[in-house]
Amino acid sequence: MHRAAELIWQAVAPILPGFTVEVLPQVDSTNSELMRRARLGQTEPVLLVAGHQSAGRGRLGRQWQSRPGDSLTFSLGLLLRPSDWAGLSLAVGVCLAEALHPEVRLKWPNDLWLADRKLGGILIETASSPGADPGAAARYAVVGVGINLAQQPAAGLSTPPAALRELLPAADAPAALLAVAEPLVRTLQAFETFGFAPFQARFNARDVLCERAVVLSDGTAGTAHGVSETGALLVHTAHGMHAVTSSEVSVRPSA
Ligand code: BTN
Repeated sequence: MHRAAELIWQAVAPILPGFTVEVLPQVDSTNSELMRRARLGQTEPVLLVAGHQSAGRGRLGRQWQSRPGDSLTFSLGLLLRPSDWAGLSLAVGVCLAEALHPEVRLKWPNDLWLADRKLGGILIETASSPGADPGAAARYAVVGVGINLAQQPAAGLSTPPAALRELLPAADAPAALLAVAEPLVRTLQAFETFGFAPFQARFNARDVLCERAVVLSDGTAGTAHGVSETGALLVHTAHGMHAVTSSEVSVRPSA
């Protein structure tokens, strides 16, 4: 991992001044660690990679479990000041899918999918910080990414997860990190300037829900029709076209 860290630092430091890469054998959660640091005013750009997380966190209060060596877990923390934050996690998904493999697809809002199973997830949290410039609307964004490299235990999951080695048998954490780290930084910088609009068509090209029957967690049924230019999921229901924006809504293909 240390060779990959060095190569990533060499590629990213020129476009992100002050950038560092940190590799920890174990931490509770790379997101929790960077959020703690941000609350203490540490808002320098950093890529924090963990060999193992003892308390990995997912969206909607879920856990993110992985066995050591079987997944890539990292968080990128940096100050961002986009004019609109809508669609940030979708743009990150687009970037990761494109950087990993043509067959990696996206399930709204920001799951990486392979052959109708979950390959990876993204958890974005932000903190205002004493270290952030109060004049601009900058926040410290912590972009957490977990990607399954090998088969994970399926306990408690309705569908067994996918693994990157199904596509790339030699994939390991350093190689996967090397593939995604610089594109991720460039994506966040592009999003800060241009917002989600340039990512809309790229998301829709990999959207697993497109034209499929879906059910929202509130029970509403409909057919998914891609995402809007702000990243809302467009669902055609009995009451017309509905733009689903809440990241607290989960959506699944219906049987
Ligand atoms: C999800 O699919 O619900 C999001 C999963 C995000 C997991 C990653 S692993 C690295 C970072 N640290 C965490 O505790 N979570 C994210």
